[in-house]
Amino acid sequence: MALDVAQIRDDFPILKRTVNGKPLVYLDNAATSQKPQQVIDCIVDYYSRYNANIHRGVHTLSQEATEAYESARKKVQAHFNIGHSHEVILTSGTTHGINLVASGFTSIMKQGDEILVSAMEHHSNIVPWQMLCERTGAQMKVIPMLEDGTLDMEAYQALLSQSTKLVFVNHISNALGTINPIAQMIDRAHEYGAAVLVDGAQACSHIKPDLRELDVDFYVTSAHKLCGPTGIGMLYGKEEWLKRLPPYQGGGEMIAEVTFEKTTYADLPHKFEAGTPNIAGGIAFGAALDYLNGIGFEAIAEYEAGLLEYATEELLKIPGLRIYGSSSERTSVISFNLEDIHPYDVGTILDKLGIAVRTGHHCAQPVMDFYRIPGTVRASFAFYNTREEVDKLVEGVKKAQMMLS
Ligand code: ALA
Repeated sequence: MALDVAQIRDDFPILKRTVNGKPLVYLDNAATSQKPQQVIDCIVDYYSRYNANIHRGVHTLSQEATEAYESARKKVQAHFNIGHSHEVILTSGTTHGINLVASGFTSIMKQGDEILVSAMEHHSNIVPWQMLCERTGAQMKVIPMLEDGTLDMEAYQALLSQSTKLVFVNHISNALGTINPIAQMIDRAHEYGAAVLVDGAQACSHIKPDLRELDVDFYVTSAHKLCGPTGIGMLYGKEEWLKRLPPYQGGGEMIAEVTFEKTTYADLPHKFEAGTPNIAGGIAFGAALDYLNGIGFEAIAEYEAGLLEYATEELLKIPGLRIYGSSSERTSVISFNLEDIHPYDVGTILDKLGIAVRTGHHCAQPVMDFYRIPGTVRASFAFYNTREEVDKLVEGVKKAQMMLS
């Protein structure tokens, strides 16, 4: 089913604005996606009609807000094909979810245990595990990557052992767009009894993961990458793991009973949801999933694959332009550099032309170190981008090259 991109673009008010006198060309979708009117309206509706704290009041507003928030949790459950809604922990985002799990494993990991982390991780999937290793004496080992921006699966196999307790890998690399073979990686880790956490922050706007089929132990993502608001995301954890992990934060709503002598904790998912959550964000997360499912992930994937192919072909026609990462399994992210030109300078000139890209190390310094570069220019496409916008990017890059050479 083909997308009606013109109609879709009408849903996104921000796409009508200008930047530096030029129509906005937003190609920084891997950093955050834009929001459709349907999601914006949902937030306005909550604050205009039924703003109240949830799980706390008998009054009508509180009940309406609670119902809407819990119905969003069920939408997340259905979207990711999760067995139980109490396995969905609503977090402030991917980083929160990873830190929650890393903190919980402090009481499980011990000296001699090993954690495998892929070489193409975002800093949020490196630093919490380093901190866990410092706390427990466990050792972190790195699954190396290859020149084409894929993981070295033979090295992965060789690193796995009875000492491996945890494996962390992103579903899609934010710096390169590589789709990692997570199903295979999960199966192999499970053969050694290791748990796997997949960082889905970059994946969920392009792919609809079936978490039950993947049999993954933990999966994390952020709503703002998939047309939802910032400050809300989800951690999926298998029930047995979530029961085993201690609470991450103490506070209201995560308790069963509190006395000064002893506190008992609430059942899942509330055990991990201390304090007043991002209620409007949670409800809007559900609205964003409704919006994307209304378009359909197959149609999104097909359309974005066309954009990626076209943009790759056109950019590679520019002499001296190098794209990093050439896996056949990629999503619509293109990380590139112009010979002898700093990515920051290219990004600045593109901004003058109304084109938004990200420049720098993309919070994935080890990937930049691997290619021995300070950073890249990263253009990341969404289903609301067009071929005309790709043409503008290509023209802008040529102009930058001319000005900076
Ligand atoms: N992780 C986000 C990115 O890749 C912020 O830009």
